[in-house]
Amino acid sequence: MREKAFQEKSKIIFNHRIYQDYFKMKMLSARIASRALPGQFLEVKVGDSNEPLLRRPFSIYRLDGAKVEILYEVLGKGTEILSQRKTGEYLDVIGPLGNGFNLIPNTYDLIPILVAGGMGVAPLLFLAEKLVETKHQTPNTKYLTLIGAKTKKQILCAEEFKKLGCVVKIATDDGSEGFKGKVTDLLRIVLRTTHSAQRKTLYACGPRPMLKEISRLSTKYNIPAQISLEEHMACGIGACLGCVVKTQQGYKRVCKEGPVFNADEIIWG
Ligand SMILES: Cc1cc2nc3c(=O)[nH]c(=O)nc-3n(C[C@H](O)[C@H](O)[C@H](O)COP(=O)(O)OP(=O)(O)OC[C@H]3O[C@@H](n4cnc5c(N)ncnc54)[C@H](O)[C@@H]3O)c2cc1C
Ligand code: FES
Repeated sequence: MREKAFQEKSKIIFNHRIYQDYFKMKMLSARIASRALPGQFLEVKVGDSNEPLLRRPFSIYRLDGAKVEILYEVLGKGTEILSQRKTGEYLDVIGPLGNGFNLIPNTYDLIPILVAGGMGVAPLLFLAEKLVETKHQTPNTKYLTLIGAKTKKQILCAEEFKKLGCVVKIATDDGSEGFKGKVTDLLRIVLRTTHSAQRKTLYACGPRPMLKEISRLSTKYNIPAQISLEEHMACGIGACLGCVVKTQQGYKRVCKEGPVFNADEIIWG
């Protein structure tokens, strides 16, 4: 587990709408950026008052030197306030928090498959950047990235993954782009049709039902999977036990022992 986190007053570099309720925010957080790893997250105090009282968790989506980026969707009060924050203002941020993904070194016969549902793209883009940067990719290995969304317009980050050299496949619920159906249905087809001699490893982030199905597929096809859970959090730093999940080793805190778990660890309700 990576223990070192900082509380920083982070200057907002930009905070702009990318589409409808989706926003990107970049902030200057030198100490957080110096230690951040893919799969870790930030606890953000969205406003200057005590309303809302609780910080909100967001995955680290990108690093740019001393700057940290998040990608977020406005869902309720906290994210609504966040979306109104302006360039030059300061946010109180704690991070990097949580354990992050374990980067599996690639060999010539290993296919890494990244599976994102909705906002699940955020930590996986950072992961893909890190895998490429640290040369966890052999010349013959392409990262396969599966992105699921409700409709074409809600597909996030496909171009960014392509720029990194990933092969991107899309699934939309309404069939407006790519495969029609759930991203886990697409994954099932990919697993059935890729050469059985090639080893695979899965990294996934998205809604709980998606991760539950990925866990089932990873057992069925005997493929290791790391999944990043997005449970509701209160304190975000391991103190309140508000985010526990049932695992083979007892209850674990998503904010502290997670958010990334081996899929076979989780006991799904
Ligand atoms: C480790 C972690 C990383 C996350 N990373 C991102 C990210 O990169 N981008 C992003 O947009 N969101 C992310 N989230 C979810 C984000 O924290 C919530 O959307 C946010 O806290 C909602 O705050 P709110 O005040 O706007 O909404 P609330 O008023 O608190 O809730 C509005 C609605 O959103 C639902 N909701 C709230 N929190 C969650 C949650 N954690 N999971 C599922 N549904 C939730 C509520 O049930 C309610 O229906 C992450 C959550 C966790 C735990
Ligand atoms: S949110 Fe408090 S222990 Fe995880």
